Amino acid sequence: MRLAAHAALIAATGMLALPLAVGTAHADERSVRQLVEARCQNCHGMEGQSSSPNYPKLASQNAEYLQRQLFNFKLGKRRNAEMKAQVADLSAAEVQALANYFSSKPIIADIAFDPALADKGREIYLNGNPVTGVTACATCHGPRAHGALFLPRLAGQHASYIERQIHAFIDRTRQTPDMVMHSVVATLAEDEIIALGQYLSGLE
Ligand code: HEC
Ligand code: HEC
Repeated sequence: MRLAAHAALIAATGMLALPLAVGTAHADERSVRQLVEARCQNCHGMEGQSSSPNYPKLASQNAEYLQRQLFNFKLGKRRNAEMKAQVADLSAAEVQALANYFSSKPIIADIAFDPALADKGREIYLNGNPVTGVTACATCHGPRAHGALFLPRLAGQHASYIERQIHAFIDRTRQTPDMVMHSVVATLAEDEIIALGQYLSGLE
């Protein structure tokens, strides 16, 4: 229905909004490996697998989404002090290369510690909550939560990061150019948020 069309629109318009000017490589441009070793790996790991749940996994995330988030941090559209410092001096070509690098890495899912909660999360993910008006997440993030283009992959992500981001959308500390996530999560209950994190973190 309309939400599916909305998702397609986000994907399509997002593509147009992406900066086209990537520029030619400068002689002094740092290689992806240098950048990952010197910076990203300290928090996200060399393979984007982030062993600490404080930091999101970047492995297997969609390259377009990664690129957009890096620009969002750079432009201050998404606010996070740790990330802002990391991206401030990156060129557009470096941002693109980093996004491609992490996107190409395999992701290892977590093991859900509570299978009953994960089942409940699966139900909400696939069907939403018709009573409280929560839209099925699968409408946009896909049946296996792999996302597409600017719709992030959620499968295999740390549960606590997923919970934190949902709270950030609810209290609007995470703003997005299109506000879809704000209305989607507005009526999610706390136990539903925890259940979604459990389900998604264990998904391959
Ligand atoms: C000092 C720790 C730290 C370092 C170093 C770091 N990050 Fe991050 N990164 C974070 C944190 C914390 C978040 C989550 C921010 C939030 O909650 O909004 C994050 C989020 C991200 C996201 C958004 C992921 C998503 O699913 O939305 C991307 C992309 C990212 N980092 C890429 C990088 C890259 C590329 C580098 C290296 C150039 C890097 N980070 C270095 C701490 C770090
Ligand atoms: C109408 C489409 C749509 C629906 C439905 C939707 N999402 Fe999203 N979601 C998005 C978009 C678009 C983004 C990326 C926002 C951005 O660019 O910052 C996103 C981002 C997220 C993120 C942040 C991921 C990251 O790596 O930082 C989480 C977590 C999330 N959604 C969870 C959910 C859950 C759980 C549901 C179901 C209750 C849901 N979404 C339903 C469109 C949707």
